Amino acid sequence: MMWLIGLQNVFAHQLPRMPREYITRLLFDPKHKTLALIKDKIPIGGICFRPFPTQGFTEIVFCAVSANEQVKGYGTHLMNHLKEYHIKQNILHFLTFADEFAIGYFKKQGFSKDMKLPRNVHQGFIKDYDGATLMHCQLNPRIVYTEFTSVVRKAKEIIKYTVEEQQYQAEKIHPGLTCFREGVRSIPVESIPGIRETGWKPAARATRVSKLTEECSDPDTLTKYLKIVLNSIKNHSASWPFQKPVDKDEVPDYYDHIKYPMDLKTMAERLKSGYYAARRLFIADMTRIFTNCRIYNSPDTEYYACANQLEKYFQTKMKELGLWHK
Ligand code: ACO
Repeated sequence: MMWLIGLQNVFAHQLPRMPREYITRLLFDPKHKTLALIKDKIPIGGICFRPFPTQGFTEIVFCAVSANEQVKGYGTHLMNHLKEYHIKQNILHFLTFADEFAIGYFKKQGFSKDMKLPRNVHQGFIKDYDGATLMHCQLNPRIVYTEFTSVVRKAKEIIKYTVEEQQYQAEKIHPGLTCFREGVRSIPVESIPGIRETGWKPAARATRVSKLTEECSDPDTLTKYLKIVLNSIKNHSASWPFQKPVDKDEVPDYYDHIKYPMDLKTMAERLKSGYYAARRLFIADMTRIFTNCRIYNSPDTEYYACANQLEKYFQTKMKELGLWHK
């Protein structure tokens, strides 16, 4: 509570256009969470955010660092921890209305004005601010953001070393090929001495996967593939518990335990409405079905077994269509 009160002051000072009462209301609203950066027992910066797990994104509501601590890397440090936290929660999109003067900071944190989330995913959910710019950031779950800076530094060193190595190797002169004189008509490229040292690699096969990753540019193809997956899931023998929303009359306490319900019928409706513009949204909803089931039911139940069985089948199906890569 003391930290939140401290942050209330940081936000009020750093975001003078925001009414203090408004900051207080959101900061202490249970639907909002706040990440605080504490230095010498005093909160010097923070990010107040609101997750929308069903929509697969989080809204960054307030972000600020005390005036005397700015441009020392604390803003980046906070954002990296926020990203780590969200990857663990399987929320991979951030949205924020950035102040004019903060656009540069958000750009450096991987945000862009180029919205990759369809409007119907966020409209009506996030708060709209006059004069601010809506920005989007997609998280990559393979990146450990808290180690990002040191990893990039290390990667730079490795690349520099590799280039130097290759330059040295490329200077080597190999004896010419004589096999053609002896009647050989062709040889595999990789057998040419020295070719690999120059950095040559066999051309990667053009796979279906590479086409499908262009999800946003070709939503129709993605929808077609997701429809195939969804239909085969619906027809699977273990899918019967997940066909439609859980009936409150049949299971009265279900919605006390499960805050973000999901089922195959709802997914079919979402697919039809064009909601799944990115396969991650589809994966997030499907995974939620299984997670909810395992939260509500004990491991010895048939429901639990169905969730495990269907999840395996789902992943296999997605892999078959090249939709499962991270
Ligand atoms: N404009 C452009 N670039 C910036 C800004 C800015 N306002 N602030 C920081 N940067 C750059 C830094 O130069 C640094 O660049 P580098 O990687 O080249 O070194 C990079 O962004 C990261 O800087 P940090 O030191 O990590 O950021 P800092 O600790 O200063 O925190 C923050 C940034 C939160 C924007 C802070 O400056 C602040 O509190 N500003 C006032 C409040 C504000 O504008 N908040 C955002 C409002 S929008 C919203 O809350 C949704």
